Amino acid sequence: MLQKCLFPVAGYGTRFLPATKAMPKEMLPILTKPLIQYGVEEALDAGMKQVAFVTGRGKRAIEDHFDITYELEEQISGTPKEASLEGIHRLIDRCAFSYTRQIQMKGLGHAILTGEILVGNQPFGVILADDLCVGESASVMAQMARVYEQHRCSIVAIEEVPRQTVDQYGVIMGEPIAEDLYRVSDMVEKPSPESAPSNLAIIGRYILTPDIFDILRQTPPGKGGEIQITDALKIQAQQGGVLAYRFHGQRFDCGNVDGFVAATNFFYEAYLRDR
Ligand code: G1P
Repeated sequence: MLQKCLFPVAGYGTRFLPATKAMPKEMLPILTKPLIQYGVEEALDAGMKQVAFVTGRGKRAIEDHFDITYELEEQISGTPKEASLEGIHRLIDRCAFSYTRQIQMKGLGHAILTGEILVGNQPFGVILADDLCVGESASVMAQMARVYEQHRCSIVAIEEVPRQTVDQYGVIMGEPIAEDLYRVSDMVEKPSPESAPSNLAIIGRYILTPDIFDILRQTPPGKGGEIQITDALKIQAQQGGVLAYRFHGQRFDCGNVDGFVAATNFFYEAYLRDR
């Protein structure tokens, strides 16, 4: 059973300036709930109760969010407003949180390697909170955990994207081995549409086996001069095996304004239906 989920949250969120000047991008809300809370709910839904954050400077609000806020809670205690904190209390009660800082921004691969101290020698999930995922019936990470239980190797979540947008993603080349499942033979970080091996893009959900840490230690900087998880996974795919899973559900790229607004509209419609 997978127990840990790593959240790399050190990034700056420059596409949301000035909103993210003094506030972590992961705290931007979709309706009333910050992105990071959706991510932690997804981890818990997949049974991952140990939540590990790789944070950076200016990210203190994330730690405070997953803690009680004594004065405020005292103030609203016994009023109807108390109900609005039920969701976050549920997470605080059920999960254990740990934090470490990434001192320098050297890429997603480097962030994940920084999390080794929190993860240790066991398989773990990775959630990039600005990819907000809504699973069909089960959450996307829960779907992936099911695939992991069967295959016991690293798994990336993929989605078909329009060819002209592949340069925003890690892209896989793979051979189908079952419905919605590919054995990865190659992967490239942010290829040009002309050179991309497919239009199957990796989204911000991974399950990684711990040998990835040794591979990451050996991985030189790649695209953009950063240590890329995609490059390390390519080595892992060649050494043992990496699967790509086409998830059932919807993903919103909340790292840009269009995706953020689409997610807001999606959740607002659900909110109006349930009201
Ligand atoms: C990262 C990864 C990329 C992946 C993407 C998913 O890129 O490097 O391979 O496709 O997340 O969101 P970023 O969006 O951080 O540039």
